[in-house]
Amino acid sequence: MVEKIIEESIKIENSSIRYAYILDNVLSKTSGNVLEIGAGFGTNTAIFCEKAIKYNKKVYVIDPFEEGWKDMPESYRYPYEEFVKSTDKYGSTMQLIKKSSQDIKSIKEYGKLEFAFVDGLQSVGAVLHDLKLVEGASIICVDDYSRRGEVKDDVDAFVRATEYKLIETPDENREVYLCK
Ligand SMILES: C[S@@+](CC[C@H](N)C(=O)[O-])C[C@H]1O[C@@H](n2cnc3c(N)ncnc32)[C@H](O)[C@@H]1O
Repeated sequence: MVEKIIEESIKIENSSIRYAYILDNVLSKTSGNVLEIGAGFGTNTAIFCEKAIKYNKKVYVIDPFEEGWKDMPESYRYPYEEFVKSTDKYGSTMQLIKKSSQDIKSIKEYGKLEFAFVDGLQSVGAVLHDLKLVEGASIICVDDYSRRGEVKDDVDAFVRATEYKLIETPDENREVYLCK
């Protein structure tokens, strides 16, 4: 079922509409939650929260924000204030875990995951760590697969070691989906 939803979704040009389409089709039929690693300005978090409210689910966000990432480009250095503005109105639907995902060993306490969005630290091994953390989610979406070699290498290693199937979007510089 999930694979068919992803295949349909990648025909959608706009990524925000694509995420909304996936969540509408998945969250309406299942019991699990959404988890995002690396939220930035919270643009996608807001989309996830809208759908979580609609289907009575939760969105967990793991991001240390500026306290945890010294290498962040100047233009992207202080997203926390913007993140709060984007997500404040969703109240307890969203829970922020303000930590580096690299310091987290288990996310079992957040329950079953339907959709995990991985867009945090993109150095070698860091993406693999995040993928292992969210392993079990029905859908794992990883940003920048085609743009960053580190991301591609880690995703490919994860796919080789698990039963997840890789579905690429037809356009360059887009996210990739893993489902099983
Ligand atoms: C490119 S932004 C994410 C953009 C967002 N996912 C979107 O699509 O709008 C990268 C984010 O990753 C976060 N980040 C960096 N290192 C991280 C880590 N070790 N664990 C979790 N998040 C991290 C940064 O704080 C930043 O907010």
